[in-house]
Amino acid sequence: MTIAWWKTSTVYQIYPKSFNDTTGNGVGDIPGIIEKLDYLKSLGIDVIWLSPVYDSPQEDNGYDIRHYQKIDDLFGSMDDMECLLEEAHKRGLKIVMDLVVNHTSDEHPWFVESRSSMDNPYRDYYIWKDGKEDGTPPTNWGSIFSGSAWKYDEETGQYYLHLFAEKQPDLNWENPELRSDVYEMMNFWLDKGVNGFRMDVINFISKHQPFADGDISDREKYGDPGPYFLNGPRIHEFLREMHGEVLHGRDVMTVGEMPGTTPDDAVIYTDPENNELDMIFTFEHMSLDQHGGDKWNLKPLDLRDLKENFEKWQTSLHGSGWNSLYWNNHDQPRIVSRFGNDGEYREKSAKMLATCLHMMQGTPYIYQGEEFGMTNVHFDNLEDYQDIETLNMYKEKKELGWSHERIMDAIYTKGRDNARTPMQWDDSSHAGFTTGTPWLQVNENHSAINAEQALNDPKSIFYYYQKLIQLRKEMEILSEGGFDLLMREDEHIFAYERAGGGESLIVLCNFSGEDREVEEDIVTRIDGAQVVVSNEGSRDLRMLKPYEASVYRVL
Ligand code: NOJ
Repeated sequence: MTIAWWKTSTVYQIYPKSFNDTTGNGVGDIPGIIEKLDYLKSLGIDVIWLSPVYDSPQEDNGYDIRHYQKIDDLFGSMDDMECLLEEAHKRGLKIVMDLVVNHTSDEHPWFVESRSSMDNPYRDYYIWKDGKEDGTPPTNWGSIFSGSAWKYDEETGQYYLHLFAEKQPDLNWENPELRSDVYEMMNFWLDKGVNGFRMDVINFISKHQPFADGDISDREKYGDPGPYFLNGPRIHEFLREMHGEVLHGRDVMTVGEMPGTTPDDAVIYTDPENNELDMIFTFEHMSLDQHGGDKWNLKPLDLRDLKENFEKWQTSLHGSGWNSLYWNNHDQPRIVSRFGNDGEYREKSAKMLATCLHMMQGTPYIYQGEEFGMTNVHFDNLEDYQDIETLNMYKEKKELGWSHERIMDAIYTKGRDNARTPMQWDDSSHAGFTTGTPWLQVNENHSAINAEQALNDPKSIFYYYQKLIQLRKEMEILSEGGFDLLMREDEHIFAYERAGGGESLIVLCNFSGEDREVEEDIVTRIDGAQVVVSNEGSRDLRMLKPYEASVYRVL
């Protein structure tokens, strides 16, 4: 049986704005990515996921697209993009582009046409509704970026839906012409040689018709629209249609970003027999350190919840679908600051977290800077933050009576700019990211934490990742083996076994800064076993050192 290439691949996400600037304008660009391809190749990754580089007013850093077939001047030209594809392919690297088709920018020509009159042929490309009798919005839905999800438009006296920012109107997937235009655009990029798509909030595209008010609970002011657009009634039909029109017969990979999805949903989305997607991004493990649906309402992580959650995903998808494995992306805080320790044990805990994730079944994703342990950032002034979600949230929570300190604490812990500070290439003034003024301040810890330093240290996090990536290619058990959770009730150790093909691996990870005892029967099993990988030089089988991760091949 041949294993699909994306099952043994590791993906590296680039957030172009913050990756590498070659022009000195303070914003990363495509030539900057080309310049670093050899660095990525040396890490050993196989696929690059490129966050949006399309023409955009950059209200949401490119997740608001004005033109799908044009490259934003900020990032370069179509020639640069073609050169990137060519140079990546020459090195055996694949490129997956971001596909943002739940919404466009309000500056997209479709929307400009759509809002111009009720009978414009593009009117139905978006979701327009009359207000309620009293003139208030059609439903009580809150936008994910705060405020109402509806915006009144003077021109035609109707409201349009925007689940995200006002400048990100939602597309109307009920309209077959819109769908066919989207498929044509996807084929354009695949014909250019792109190797697949990461599909932005793709399980939001089918909305329940007609539109109804949501419950007002933890959104406090607005109703929760989740039940009316998450995994909506026609989602599987749309994805199968997309598969038939675009993906069928092409050797590409697809990953759907899907908040609000359970393992049962994921099996349907990713079972190859269903012809939908290769894998999805779940959010369940990223929501365990919050109360309810509000990511800003902080709660400490209970490791047992995390273990149970991974167990559920690992076992439910085994043999029927496929997992994607991630700790970080451009929307999440840095994992070493979140579930690890970004002080004394930064290197140790970064390696432990990597081990814990990369030994599971699925395709691992690494987010730029994760490979040498970049951390969260702490700006004293709100004005130094750039993210629209953060800035809108600040205003909304203030109105709801949250104190400045509480909101800032939430931003330090969960804000998206934690992930978006420029790549720390070296210890020079702007971390080697730009010669100009960076669009978002560089984290001041770049003098100690940077790629150059990591490359010069054979024991660095970088080389540890390199090893994990290599193991996925060498050990079939990692892509094919089953998953059994061990030491279920332990509050500090995440332990599991991968078994298959007559082989077995035991993975032991200590999520705490103290020595922790290993269960007796595991000690017996690992006694004399070969160590596959470990972040600890002198191991004691009975005891895991602070943030130790050790993987044993057992009989
Ligand atoms: C998810 C993306 O990852 C995020 O960055 C963006 O703001 C929203 N979708 C809207 O496109």
